[in-house]
Amino acid sequence: MKFTVAIDGPAAAGKGTISRAVAARFGFAHLDTGALYRAVGVKAGGEGGDPVAAARGLTPADLAREDLRTLAAGQAASKVAVIPEVRQALLEFQREFARRDGGAVLDGRDIGTVICPEAEVKLFVTASAEVRAHRRWLEVGGDAAAVLAEVVARDARDMNRAEAPLKPAADAVVIDTSTMSIEAAVAAACDEIAKRMR
Ligand code: CDP
Repeated sequence: MKFTVAIDGPAAAGKGTISRAVAARFGFAHLDTGALYRAVGVKAGGEGGDPVAAARGLTPADLAREDLRTLAAGQAASKVAVIPEVRQALLEFQREFARRDGGAVLDGRDIGTVICPEAEVKLFVTASAEVRAHRRWLEVGGDAAAVLAEVVARDARDMNRAEAPLKPAADAVVIDTSTMSIEAAVAAACDEIAKRMR
C-alpha cells in the first residue's frame, strides 16, 4: 500500500511532534526532511563550505549528529536550502521514501508542493510566530528574543526563496495550533488521515 502524508509549515509549528504521533498511530514510516537540510548546513559549515558536495555525499552519520537541533544549525539549513542543486540532490531520496510500501509521513516545507504533489493527505501546520518561538525556546533555551528573531528570519528566507518556497499546497488542510494542545493537534491530523483512508 502506498499512502503519503505530507506535513508542511513554518519553523517550530509542531510538525515534528504531529508527524511522529501520526506515524506511530497508523504504522507509517516517518522522515524529518528538515534534518537533511540541517545536516547539509552543518556539514558544509564545518568543511570550508561546499553545500552541494555536502548534500550529494550525505551519510547516515551526518544525520546522526547531535548538534542538528541548535539554532545555528537551523539558520545554516535555511541558507543551504535556497540552493537549487542542494534541493535537487535530496529530491530522489525523499520521493522514494514518500512512495515506499506501508505508508509514509514526511514533514518539511515543500512536501505537498514539490516532493509529493500526489500525497493522499496534505496538512499545513502553523501557529503565530510568538507561540512558535516560545515552543522553540522551551526546546533550546537561551535568550527568548533571539529565538523569536531566529524563527522570524528563517521563515522569511523560507517563504521568499525562488526554489520550492514555503507555502501551503492549494489542496492542503491548514491546522493552526496557536491555541491547541498537542493532543488536539494530533487528533485533528489523525481525523484528516482517517477520512482519506476510508
Ligand atoms: O524544526 P523546524 O521547523 O524549526 O525546522 P526544520 O523542519 O528542521 O527545517 C530546517 C530548515 O530546513 C528550514 O528552515 C528550511 O530552510 C529547510 N527545509 C527546507 O527547505 N525544505 C524542507 N522540506 C525541510 C526543511
